[in-house]
Amino acid sequence: MAEADLAAVLAVAAVVHPDFPEDACVFAERLRLWPAGCFVLAAADAPTPLAGYVVSHPWRAGSPPALNSLLGTLPDGADTVYLHDLALMPAARQNGTGAAMVDTLARHAGDAGFKTMSLVAVGNSAGFWGRQGFLAIDDPALAEKLASYGAAARFMVRML
Ligand SMILES: CC(C)(COP(=O)(O)OP(=O)(O)OC[C@H]1O[C@@H](n2cnc3c(N)ncnc32)[C@H](O)[C@@H]1OP(=O)(O)O)[C@@H](O)C(=O)NCCC(=O)NCCS
Repeated sequence: MAEADLAAVLAVAAVVHPDFPEDACVFAERLRLWPAGCFVLAAADAPTPLAGYVVSHPWRAGSPPALNSLLGTLPDGADTVYLHDLALMPAARQNGTGAAMVDTLARHAGDAGFKTMSLVAVGNSAGFWGRQGFLAIDDPALAEKLASYGAAARFMVRML
């Protein structure tokens, strides 16, 4: 992902996550803080310039950021790669692309020395994440933060 992609990334986000809107500055900040964790998927044939994207960054395990919040800086002692968002346009789904993008991120994270990846699964995506090796963690201390992601949100972790 490059800065020039951000408008197209936001266009994908508007289609895929109408219930979880995030400001442009949130995407721009993640890209600035950790470009190595941000990828776009080119659309083979438009309606949109991009078919999807993934945004991730190093973070502290067990402490997911609230939805639509700025990080400021990456923490010292980051020990997990937090998968902020993986979003594919409907036409790009159900052909293994999502799984392949997760595999790519996991390989990069493992190579960089991280022991886990973590995320907040929204909507009905927890099944997909379970099949990518993520386990749901029930931690009452996270309840308030997870509420910003909707009632079905689950905090999930994958060992690398
Ligand atoms: C979640 C998401 C990224 C998954 O991406 P995807 O590319 O559809 O995922 P995959 O194709 O790898 O897997 C989806 C299904 O396609 C099936 N599939 C994989 N390869 C296939 C193929 N070649 N032919 C047919 N089906 C296939 C898989 O079995 C899988 O089914 P399952 O989920 O019942 O196991 C995508 O659905 C999405 O963007 N959803 C909206 C945004 C969202 O919820 N993001 C997560 C935020 S936490």
